[in-house]
Amino acid sequence: MQQLSFVSLLDIHKNLKELFLQHQEALLDGDLTRAGKRLNEFEGRLLHHIWEEEEFLLPVYERAGAIPGGPPVLFTGEHKRMQELLAGFQRALSSLTQDPDGLKRGILWLLDRQATFKNLMEHHDLREANILYPALDRVTSEAERREILARCGTACP
Ligand SMILES: [Fe+2]
Ligand SMILES: [Fe+2]
Repeated sequence: MQQLSFVSLLDIHKNLKELFLQHQEALLDGDLTRAGKRLNEFEGRLLHHIWEEEEFLLPVYERAGAIPGGPPVLFTGEHKRMQELLAGFQRALSSLTQDPDGLKRGILWLLDRQATFKNLMEHHDLREANILYPALDRVTSEAERREILARCGTACP
């Protein structure tokens, strides 16, 4: 039987990345309504994933002790930065809807800002894939992994 692994959570990252690209595609189409819907959906799912990691995973990760390049505060700091950038995108999007004349330049400006965010997401994804999730696999039993992963699939804040 295949062993359960926290690395399976990378599927959530993949889905998030796809949703963000859909938001950017809508921006390129100049469709602010669709862009806003996708961004809201992305934000909801990202915040939920962050909540799960901070609520269920990081407390267990503490058992692994000090890991170079992976103190818990680094993960929570990146989560916070992602949320701040996202809040900025929401504000930018709502001001775009109020300025139809400056729409194209506004969209270009927003896409430039989002490049930073995508780099951060990529970096965070790698750090979790290489450090957080494998360390969680090391410090948990199969039964505990099953229990935590099941909670990650269903729990809501
Ligand atoms: Fe995370
Ligand atoms: Fe994650």
